[in-house]
Amino acid sequence: MSTAHQKLERHSIAFAMMILFVASIGGIVEIAPLFTIENTVEEVEGMRPYTPLELAGRDIYVREGCYACHSQMIRTLRSDVERYGHYSLAAESMYDHPFQWGSKRTGPDLARIGGKYSDDWHVAHLEDPRALVPGSVMPGYAFLSATRLDTGHLPAALEALRRAGVPYTDAQIATAEQAAGWQADAEQAYESELQELFGDNVQLRDFDGRPGELTEMDALVAYLQVLGTLVNFDTLDPEEINR
Ligand code: HEC
Repeated sequence: MSTAHQKLERHSIAFAMMILFVASIGGIVEIAPLFTIENTVEEVEGMRPYTPLELAGRDIYVREGCYACHSQMIRTLRSDVERYGHYSLAAESMYDHPFQWGSKRTGPDLARIGGKYSDDWHVAHLEDPRALVPGSVMPGYAFLSATRLDTGHLPAALEALRRAGVPYTDAQIATAEQAAGWQADAEQAYESELQELFGDNVQLRDFDGRPGELTEMDALVAYLQVLGTLVNFDTLDPEEINR
């Protein structure tokens, strides 16, 4: 007399199918919700795609490998929230391709760095971190102030992101090259143009302290200054976060 299990073991194909079935449950549980990603990541008020200048700054952030030392993901842990502010929402990186969450923190998390320091502080710190924070192990990026920002690729960059799901409009793509300069214009002469394109929540000024020059430093500081500032947690309905 053989037991049921012994019989089962002798039917290798049926047994293999059952193993596959059991093993796939874990995978399905993880993957299935992603088919409804549109509903999984709730849009929260205030989020908008990056302006061309901020996007150029983000590209520099990625190019320079800032993510190797900085995360952009405030965890729900009390130690994180007390140091950095409200924990990160999925919606806050919905337009990031690829997202910059990371887990390596040689330096602090930067998810809510926007508005924490002045532009001048960022420029001085990026040019020579040890001038402001003695003992810092962060490398200096002084060349960013001396490098003119290449805006030629921006329309194509926005277009590529649109294919990845970022809702850039035709008008935003068509004006991307000029709009980068508009945002860093020292006179803020293009406020209405930019607001028409990207809404009221756009910071316009000369970011690198070199009026008349559009540098990679302008772009990187514009990017750092927008991080974590788009969602207003004072007015956000908690229901919207906890769904
Ligand atoms: C080798 C690791 C390393 C790299 C690479 C690095 N950083 Fe840092 N960063 C640090 C450390 C450590 C600190 C904390 C000391 C300091 O403020 O200089 C820091 C601090 C900062 C701060 C201040 C954060 C705060 O809340 O006080 C900013 C902003 C920043 N880094 C931006 C950048 C950017 C942008 C890049 C890429 C261009 C970059 N870092 C690359 C290590 C790094």
